[in-house]
Amino acid sequence: MSCNILAIETSCDDTCASIISDGVILSNIISSQKIHAQYGGVVPELSAREHLSSLPCVVQRSLEEAHVDFANLSAVAFTYGPGLHGSLLVGATYAKSLSFALNIPLIAVNHLCGHVFAGCITRGLKFPFLCLLVSGGNTMIVKVSSFSEIDILCQTVDDALGEAYDKIAKIMGLEYPGGKIIDSLAKKGDEFMFKFPTVKISDDKMSFSGLKTAFRLFIEKNSQTNAAFIENNINNICASIQHHLLNTVVKKLVFWIKETGITTLTIGGGVASNMGLREMLSDIAADMRLEFIVPKQEYCVDNAAMIAFCAYEKYKHGFFVDYDHATDPKLKI
Ligand code: KG4
Repeated sequence: MSCNILAIETSCDDTCASIISDGVILSNIISSQKIHAQYGGVVPELSAREHLSSLPCVVQRSLEEAHVDFANLSAVAFTYGPGLHGSLLVGATYAKSLSFALNIPLIAVNHLCGHVFAGCITRGLKFPFLCLLVSGGNTMIVKVSSFSEIDILCQTVDDALGEAYDKIAKIMGLEYPGGKIIDSLAKKGDEFMFKFPTVKISDDKMSFSGLKTAFRLFIEKNSQTNAAFIENNINNICASIQHHLLNTVVKKLVFWIKETGITTLTIGGGVASNMGLREMLSDIAADMRLEFIVPKQEYCVDNAAMIAFCAYEKYKHGFFVDYDHATDPKLKI
């Protein structure tokens, strides 16, 4: 009989469910909450409420697309952190109830591990590799020696890269989340038009909060002499700030590639769908003769397929949890 696992991901503002059958992803449903755009950021209470109303339907769609019934499920998995507390609780409670009702094992997955292993969904597991994890809540470079051995080599001490993108977009009056918008406008601009200050920090750290302030001052200063500064220069501003942000991260990554001598590289998290980043890393991989594993776009954003992939690995080793397994909004890797 096949091993069918239902995975649920509700850590932030996407309600997601996926079915993995004997290690193959059969469905990956993502329902993104639109309600937060009007507030310029995710409102935790609204996010939890939206999960509560959408999750049953999202799960139903994931089962239908996979042609799997509740009765054929072998286990149910959920994201137990990090993320928004209320949002995590909705997914955890749903998964626990289903596990109890169907009398099937319960599996808890770390959202960050999901992002780290997203590239392995289509390629399979092969160790060691380096992963650049860049999302709205986290930014780090990790060394992955085995499924359970992940070491952080470098991480942000303040804002995450996606957060920096979104805050910079907000300063320019762009919609939330602004990362994708900056990425698409950057394609039409000159990346060398404007310069931004570089933060001096040790090899195991990154920082983006100072840049956000510098960017705000840059916009304010230029807008004083030209009220239409943003409007007239939007493509060049986006290209320049994107170039600066990506360079900061990529420089650190190149340092750690050389330092560890690891020749396999992958990326994960929402910002991993950035076209500029993908191009930069492809060039570096070619220059440094690295194997570069690029996850599908749908596995970069928050999704349950990456949770399902990790859950299947845990299922094979019998790593199940009890009903008192707590969610952890500040869970580390
Ligand atoms: O991993 P993710 O879907 O969710 C959480 O971190 O919760 O990442 C979302 C982040 C947002 O900050 C968004 O602006 C950013 O990923 N993002 C991008 C792009 N697509 C999404 N940032 C830069 N370029 C993109 N193409």
